[in-house]
Amino acid sequence: MSARVIPLHDARPLRVAPAAVAGLPLGDALGRPLHDLRISVTDRCNFRCGYCMPKQVFDKHHEFLPHADLLSFEEITRLAHVFVGLGVEKLRITGGEPLLRRHLETLIEMLAQLRTPDGRELDLTLTTNGSLLARKAGALKAAGLRRLTVSLDGLDDAVFQRMNDVGFPVADVLDGIRAAQAAGLGPIKVNMVVQRGVNDGQILAMARHFRHSGVVLRFIEYMDVGATNGWRMDQVLPSAEVQRRIAAEWPLAPLSHSAPGETAERWAYADGGGEIGLISSVTQAFCGDCNRARLSTEGRLYTCLFATRGHDLRALLRGTAPVDDGQLAGAVAGVWQGRSDRYSQLRGQGQSTPNGERRVEMHYIGG
Ligand code: GTP
Ligand code: 5AD
Ligand code: SF4
Ligand code: SF4
Repeated sequence: MSARVIPLHDARPLRVAPAAVAGLPLGDALGRPLHDLRISVTDRCNFRCGYCMPKQVFDKHHEFLPHADLLSFEEITRLAHVFVGLGVEKLRITGGEPLLRRHLETLIEMLAQLRTPDGRELDLTLTTNGSLLARKAGALKAAGLRRLTVSLDGLDDAVFQRMNDVGFPVADVLDGIRAAQAAGLGPIKVNMVVQRGVNDGQILAMARHFRHSGVVLRFIEYMDVGATNGWRMDQVLPSAEVQRRIAAEWPLAPLSHSAPGETAERWAYADGGGEIGLISSVTQAFCGDCNRARLSTEGRLYTCLFATRGHDLRALLRGTAPVDDGQLAGAVAGVWQGRSDRYSQLRGQGQSTPNGERRVEMHYIGG
């Protein structure tokens, strides 16, 4: 039996009128500017983290997207150019596991050529599980990648292997992180998704390991993203508890945001051991200044991590009637200007997904 968990429906047809963009930054319906674009380059992954791609759902019967459905590098670059023209200054490459996409360095090279309308370089970055990083860090740097985030949920091999569920050893990810540092892809960030009773016993070991290393360790509250991970509130360890546990060992002092709409709250070790981040999307929603658009593997535009519907940009790129970049910009601007998503905030107020529709999976929309 085949299984397909990607929502196939789209929202209203996109309007392709030339951009009615009345100056930048482009604001959404709640006044939030468009600043980040997260681009998923594959829906595949070589890990099966239970909170993202649980093995019992993403088994050998699961149908991943056929290659012809993926946006090509040229299509991604063209869309990224359009988004940059609308105010995007940060591009984050995600997946699935982005390093599984063949010749990814070529895409990085193409994206690294893009400039903001006033000629500045973009913040070009990538989130990876680190499994292929030791091999690829040098080539990614040479292609023009600026920095990098690695997901790592524990240091103890048994815990980590239980989390990735494919028996992948922690030492290889640590080698990857070292290779990325050596290649000059810093400051490296490490994302640890914390699940109470599963890996919360690793918090202090992770903090100890990455203190004084130049790596910024960020703790992410386990989120109810997608529809397959069987999320329960009692598995969420609130960031306040993470902070309490770390501060009991090494006192912390608050830091201010380093970028507009940043997901993490930053804290410095008072003894100069570096900084950590707390990403509290469950207990302290940060929708108020969410400036992130997401481009899925097959070219749909999503305006929230918890969205149920995307807007089919690929249909515009591949349609029988050619559209120019101005028309593409008009379509994207129309979507952004109509955006009122604030899922985490509403969940915090006890409301759930609109219409009870199935939410998009995180490995397909890029985290
Ligand atoms: P920096 O650019 O280094 O600050 O990283 P980032 O926060 O943009 O990207 P990263 O991929 O490291 O995101 C960290 C984690 O925050 C993600 O893995 C998600 O779990 C979560 N996250 C990112 N964006 C959003 C968002 O818009 N909403 C929610 N609820 N969570 C998000
Ligand atoms: N809750 C919180 N973070 C998640 N990630 C994937 N699924 C979840 C979830 N359910 C994180 C990964 C990675 C990033 C892209 O998203 O660990 O760091
Ligand atoms: Fe793969 Fe990342 Fe999802 Fe884990 S969280 S299954 S590494 S895409
Ligand atoms: Fe942005 Fe949606 Fe996350 Fe809120 S829940 S921060 S609107 S992506």
